[in-house]
Amino acid sequence: MAERRTFAIISHPDAGKTTLTEKLLLTGGAIHLAGEVKARGQARRARSDWMKIEQQRGISVTSSVMTFERDGITFNLLDTPGHEDFSEDTYRTLTAVDSAIMVIDAAKGIEPQTRKLFEVCRLRSVPIITFVNKVDREGREPFELMDEVADMLALDVCPMTWPVGMGGRFEGILDLASGSVARPEGPSKEFLGKIDTDATIPEEFAEQVELAQIGYPEFDVDAYRAGDLTPVFFGSALKNFGVTDVIEAIATHAPPPRPQPSEAGPVEPTKDEVSGFIFKVQANMDPQHRDRIAFMRLVSGTFKRGMKLTPSGLGKPIAVHSPIMFFAQDREIADTAEPGDIIGIPNHGTLRVGDSLSEKNDIRFTGLPNFAPEILRRVKLADPTKTKQLRKALDDLSEEGVIQVFYPEIGSQWVIGVVGQLQLDVLISRLAAEYKVDASLEPAPFATARWVKGDEKKIDEFAGFNRANMAKDRDDDPVFLAKSPWDVGYQQEKNPDLTFSTTKER
Ligand code: G4P
Repeated sequence: MAERRTFAIISHPDAGKTTLTEKLLLTGGAIHLAGEVKARGQARRARSDWMKIEQQRGISVTSSVMTFERDGITFNLLDTPGHEDFSEDTYRTLTAVDSAIMVIDAAKGIEPQTRKLFEVCRLRSVPIITFVNKVDREGREPFELMDEVADMLALDVCPMTWPVGMGGRFEGILDLASGSVARPEGPSKEFLGKIDTDATIPEEFAEQVELAQIGYPEFDVDAYRAGDLTPVFFGSALKNFGVTDVIEAIATHAPPPRPQPSEAGPVEPTKDEVSGFIFKVQANMDPQHRDRIAFMRLVSGTFKRGMKLTPSGLGKPIAVHSPIMFFAQDREIADTAEPGDIIGIPNHGTLRVGDSLSEKNDIRFTGLPNFAPEILRRVKLADPTKTKQLRKALDDLSEEGVIQVFYPEIGSQWVIGVVGQLQLDVLISRLAAEYKVDASLEPAPFATARWVKGDEKKIDEFAGFNRANMAKDRDDDPVFLAKSPWDVGYQQEKNPDLTFSTTKER
């Protein structure tokens, strides 16, 4: 079985995630994919990330997971949705990786979205390799960038390579361990040429390079894998400088598939029983067929096509006859998958985000929460005879994690909840385009939602007093729709036996 590295790239928009992804795929020989990763140029900027994904649904399956091989190692690169409004979706994708590359623009340093995504990685101790991109342009001082990563993210930093000059004075990338320099060549230094093992550093950079060599602690693989230290690489994704260093670092240092947390303790990848969890669902890939793809991270066992697995949400086994595997290159191994791999399972709504799948239906993975929405709206139908279609659409979209739906105990207007404003635009446009439902959103008299947990009797009692604020979510679990955050605190104080939770795990 080939070794696996399952990872994601996190960055602020425009730092170079797409460009780096393409170069990584090129390195791995998956050339036909490069260039398809995203639409480029103007067309790209005209739309939000999500709309763009909408537009390109045809390729979005393949770009959700990109698998390539290099030196006998299989790399699974998971795409993280770029827009900050989809933090929930991104969070879940990051639960499915074993490590991440953090791309930073050398002129900008740590930007807000980089930081947010980093925090998500930290929650799960996902180890990070840092790539400081765009050294072919004038950027900030490398030392300053190193300090910023260390200070803002509270991480130990260890430079693995160092740029000899930047922008117009770029002389190459120095490998700090070996002392060799990869030099740019060509008319305008547009590609990396020979590796200069006997390099002399131009005088103006000599002192800086010397300081870099002695000024930092040595790389410690355990500290890196524990998420306490980040090795830092410099380069240019656009010009393919320093990209192989990064992929080699993933191959050498990044952890192989890690055990995953479950109710009964961590599940080791070496366990024989096949198990995995759904971290993402994508509906309506093809508008003609109401199909959807559930993305499962395989945690243990060797998966074989046609195998029967039981989803925790369903309780009875399903046969996985036509899984989508992402080995574009090698048909032979497409019939099996190993821990760390991602399998796309076509289904008609039976599989949901957070579901655990296993052969014996005895494993429940944890840590894939829903988050309490911060924006609540009522949905108003233009044509009241479309109620059934609306319900179906809301069910579908909540399954995908685009929105959450709450069905109030009193009244007939459903309340939808989102974490960010953009999701509302997506909702309305998808209702119209995919379900032919003309709907609008109205303010709801609620500010936030909390899952009510505790003794059933106590919950019933509480609900009895607060009918106008009670709703059920898709799983029929009780939800308290609060008028204000203060209201939540008040109720919590009055009902110490109940928990008003901001997250819910399936
Ligand atoms: P993203 O996915 O993180 O949003 O970033 P993306 O790769 O799309 O890169 C954003 C812009 O930065 C692109 O330029 C890209 O060409 C440029 N870029 C990426 N890596 C480098 C690099 O190493 N050096 C330099 N100089 N530029 C880099 P654009 O003009 O905005 O887009 P496009 O029209 O070239 O697509």
